[in-house]
Amino acid sequence: MTRSADHPIHPQFLTRHSPRAFAEAQVSDAQMLQLLEAARWAPSASNNQPWRAAYGLRGDAGFEKIAAALNEGNRIWAGRAAGLIAWASRSFVTRAGADVPNAWAAFDAGTAWGFLALQAQDMGLFAHAMGGFDAAALAQSLDMPQDFQLHAVIAVGAQGSPETLPEDKRAGEAPNGRNPVAAWAAKGGFA
Ligand SMILES: Cc1cc2nc3c(=O)[nH]c(=O)nc-3n(C[C@H](O)[C@H](O)[C@H](O)COP(=O)(O)O)c2cc1C
Repeated sequence: MTRSADHPIHPQFLTRHSPRAFAEAQVSDAQMLQLLEAARWAPSASNNQPWRAAYGLRGDAGFEKIAAALNEGNRIWAGRAAGLIAWASRSFVTRAGADVPNAWAAFDAGTAWGFLALQAQDMGLFAHAMGGFDAAALAQSLDMPQDFQLHAVIAVGAQGSPETLPEDKRAGEAPNGRNPVAAWAAKGGFA
């Protein structure tokens, strides 16, 4: 489908989407740092910046660790990505030497991932988040501290041909739609 907005918005919000077919092209360390830099500037509660990431580029050990934790249905396409990022947040903040729960950690990590996804698009890449992975296995293989929570694995790279995907996944390459604003937002109270 062709996406269109009901109210005028920056076109980046319509053109960003989550295909699965990756091109062979590698992502460089510098490009990965550009993606993470965009996430760096996300807003967060008390500017705590609770997001945490561990990443690998195709062919390195970090990439293999993250790919190994993906569900089979994700590994089949995301294993061809140029980069994989484990996206997490620290669930506590340290105040006056004591760790207290940060109720906004997941909210803030989500904002930061969104910034990364828009930066990827601006660089001619795409970023596809996945919740389908073995969180316990990934936490262990990446030596994740106990006070972090894993949210997603993000695959990044340049878009490739749908032919590289198993047949049942090719239809999903087309951008999908959204519920209208009125379905989830209302003036004066929840819809
Ligand atoms: C937290 C999260 C988890 C997701 N998990 C998966 C996943 O495990 N596998 C997958 O193929 N896509 C996954 N997706 C992608 C969504 O299906 C996709 O973002 C959604 O359909 C909207 O499509 P769009 O990103 O192309 O606009 C996930 C997205 C998010 C944000």
